Amino acid sequence: MNYDIKELKKSLIKVLEPKRYEHTIGVAYTAFAMALRFGADPEKALVAGLLHDCAKCYDNDKKFELCNKYGVKLTKVEIQNPFLIHAKLGSVMAKEKYGVKNKEILSAIKYHTTGKPNMNLLEKIIFSADYIEPNRKKILGLDQIREVIFDDLDMGIYIILENTLKHLNNKEMIIDSKSQKAYEFYKELIENRK
Ligand SMILES: [Fe+2]
Ligand SMILES: [Fe+2]
Repeated sequence: MNYDIKELKKSLIKVLEPKRYEHTIGVAYTAFAMALRFGADPEKALVAGLLHDCAKCYDNDKKFELCNKYGVKLTKVEIQNPFLIHAKLGSVMAKEKYGVKNKEILSAIKYHTTGKPNMNLLEKIIFSADYIEPNRKKILGLDQIREVIFDDLDMGIYIILENTLKHLNNKEMIIDSKSQKAYEFYKELIENRK
């Protein structure tokens, strides 16, 4: 192992709220198992899973301050929905605070909330592990996604994106263009199979 997993857990348990920490462990272990299943590097999956929400511990003011400090450019949608910032900022903090240099890990953290078109394997794994990990409350479609995703990762991702967009639409929340584009990409991919 190139990463000190114990140390990483020790630092995270200090800064994350207990529920967030539990979710973090759920994502990390789910991502590890998915990496074994799909042939990704399980260690990278574990590290990306552990750090994916590392910027959730900051309040909005601190998030903006850190983005400013590290030159993280924010979109209008992110400024209006500071919740979204934790992904981009998390990727920066994984590098700056936790010393992760691996680009795949950093990118998987960056896109874990919105997804994006044509994700690489590690991005897909962290995006879906975040959704299906055992501590997730039972959202509509979760059982179906859990059933399908270990057989058919792209299909699972497509259903996650579809459900996420539906949920955001129902709540009349703003949809990040990356999620919309990701949805269209995976919809076409699945439809082209037929
Ligand atoms: Fe997150
Ligand atoms: Fe998460």
